Amino acid sequence: MERVNRVALIGTGAVGSSYAFALLNQGVADELVMIDLNKEKSEGDAMDLNHGLAFAPANKKIWFGDYKDCAYADIVVITAGANQKPGETRLDLLEKNTAIFHSIVNNVMESGFDGIFIVATNPVDILTYMTRTFSGLPANRVIGSGTILDTARLRFQLSEYFNIDTRNVHAYIIGEHGDSELPVWSHANVAGRSVFDRIQDHPDLYDIQDLDTIFAQVRDAAYHIIERKGATHYGIAMGLVRLTKAILHNENAVLTISGYVDGQYGVDDLYIGVPAIVNRQGVMEIIELNLDSEEKLKFEKSVSVLKETMKPLKE
Ligand code: 2OP
Repeated sequence: MERVNRVALIGTGAVGSSYAFALLNQGVADELVMIDLNKEKSEGDAMDLNHGLAFAPANKKIWFGDYKDCAYADIVVITAGANQKPGETRLDLLEKNTAIFHSIVNNVMESGFDGIFIVATNPVDILTYMTRTFSGLPANRVIGSGTILDTARLRFQLSEYFNIDTRNVHAYIIGEHGDSELPVWSHANVAGRSVFDRIQDHPDLYDIQDLDTIFAQVRDAAYHIIERKGATHYGIAMGLVRLTKAILHNENAVLTISGYVDGQYGVDDLYIGVPAIVNRQGVMEIIELNLDSEEKLKFEKSVSVLKETMKPLKE
């Protein structure tokens, strides 16, 4: 009999419950255990999702559980944490979520967990770094959602602009999942043509200046959504399912995740958004893109933003 896959989800807020729903709908993982301090909400979610099983593509065991259930989990996904409150700085949020993560990761490790962590809570690059520190697991088994969603947003915007299926658009956003991220235009292509060639092919339709507007829409997407509905959760949840599937199905998929960079891109000891090969081992390899000089500068800037923000945590 094939081994049963188990995902443990910590945090069943908007992102966590959307993730659970997407996981069920896509038939990914055999077992899903949901863990949250808010027992009522989590229990209700598990009941509700179980009632959808008859309509799902594959059977699954879903239950509200506790940290002990992480022992046999292949993947622990953390979406728990505080949100930024009005008047609160990013650093306040970081300190608060670091304390929350300290307790979550310790609880998970005490269960005997020996799988792969996926982290989605913001600031995601830094909390992924802290998860690795607190867990002591090898870096390839601690992965942040990084710029997986930003890359999807870029592919969507380019697909709208060029009127080409998102899946035939290849382009990456790398760097911090945040304001200092950057698009790698030098490697972006649609339907086998570089974006620059594609623009030149149709000067009547396209203009290179539009790429700046497209990137601004991507970078500011979360702000625009939060202004309208207070949070973003469907897009990130689907990105997390994509990552879960790449791991459980041993896909060797190339995804822009927050990976541990130590030497690549001339950067030491940092989690940051980069393309990586993901499979059953976690991150198999960080792909080092040949950035052009402008992209290199922007990436370095993003590295220093993250390192600066992390400084107080390391003191
Ligand atoms: C997003 O980019 C807020 O990180 C969240 O949608």
